[in-house]
Amino acid sequence: MRSRAIRVARSEGETARRALLDAGKLRTDLRIRVDDGEVVLPVGEGSLPVAGAVVEEEFIRQGEPEAARRYQDLVSLPPDRRALLPRAFDVIGDIVLVRIPDELESDGPAIGDALLRFVPGARLVGADGGVHGTDRRRSLRALAGKGGWRTHHRENGIEIEVDVEQAYFSPRLAREHARVAEAVRPGETVYDLCCGVGPFSLAIARDARARRIVAVDHNAAATDLLRASLARMAPSVPVDVVEDDVERFLKSAGPADRAILNLPLQGIKYLPSVSRVVRPGGSIHYYEVTERAELDARAMTIMDRVGGPREWVIRDHREVHAYSPSSDLRSYTFERRGDA
Ligand SMILES: C[S@@+](CC[C@H](N)C(=O)[O-])C[C@H]1O[C@@H](n2cnc3c(N)ncnc32)[C@H](O)[C@@H]1O
Repeated sequence: MRSRAIRVARSEGETARRALLDAGKLRTDLRIRVDDGEVVLPVGEGSLPVAGAVVEEEFIRQGEPEAARRYQDLVSLPPDRRALLPRAFDVIGDIVLVRIPDELESDGPAIGDALLRFVPGARLVGADGGVHGTDRRRSLRALAGKGGWRTHHRENGIEIEVDVEQAYFSPRLAREHARVAEAVRPGETVYDLCCGVGPFSLAIARDARARRIVAVDHNAAATDLLRASLARMAPSVPVDVVEDDVERFLKSAGPADRAILNLPLQGIKYLPSVSRVVRPGGSIHYYEVTERAELDARAMTIMDRVGGPREWVIRDHREVHAYSPSSDLRSYTFERRGDA
């Protein structure tokens, strides 16, 4: 059954479980899950004594027999091919996306059918061909199920309108969306640059500490989806949704207290312009795919693009998730020296 839940890093799982149990917030009627390096704890309503991404996910009731522990058990394949089955898949609303290795191309429909049966509430399963072009749209092929690629996804207590084919969205960033929203201080002006369907803006708007949020993306499908989410949410904070090129927007933009730039493979070219609009005391949250072997040198390069250590301090950089065998998606937080 579906329940509100909190995702925490596996290393924090036991501490979180105890804290939630002590606060009477842990749903003891449902089984805790471990998934993709994180523990997913089913919780009740209200505020939680634990930090993490608040999501809505499927759980098995305590005492209920498990039909299959893994979707792989539902695919009939010879053992050598079975070993190639992908372990991970993403669930976005009622859509399941999975990357099919070339060797299993012809088994796509069988894998889709297994996932459709395995993931509770799944409507459509797609083969994920990765994101492409400047809009970072996903190439998709329907494997099983019915209907189109539009859905709504719940994360951090927010309903996000998503079209997995027309605009970028990744459920693997839920913790980042929540973490950045938590950092926003009362009265801030926040620029969400390359906002996509707006998960950062929506989380910040929900918390209602910002004075104003401006969300910018050049993909009209993404900005339309964000407007649809805002229409449903009706936040008390004004959110200006701007369909524009980020560089063009920044040319005439006023000062901001915080800027978010999540364009991991090309965003570095915009950092000098982003850093110019951030006030003293303000912050930039920048996302980039970084080779692990080049981590230290890369942090220095990024610092130079922001404006150098005389004016900026790197407050934090961390792995968000693995991107390839040798690289990670990382988040870098810079703060401009001086008082706000
Ligand atoms: C990786 S997605 C991030 C979306 C969103 N911030 C999130 O976390 O889900 C990058 C987004 O940048 C947008 N984008 C790429 N280049 C851009 C540009 N020059 N100006 C405005 N938006 C751009 C794409 O359309 C895409 O929606």
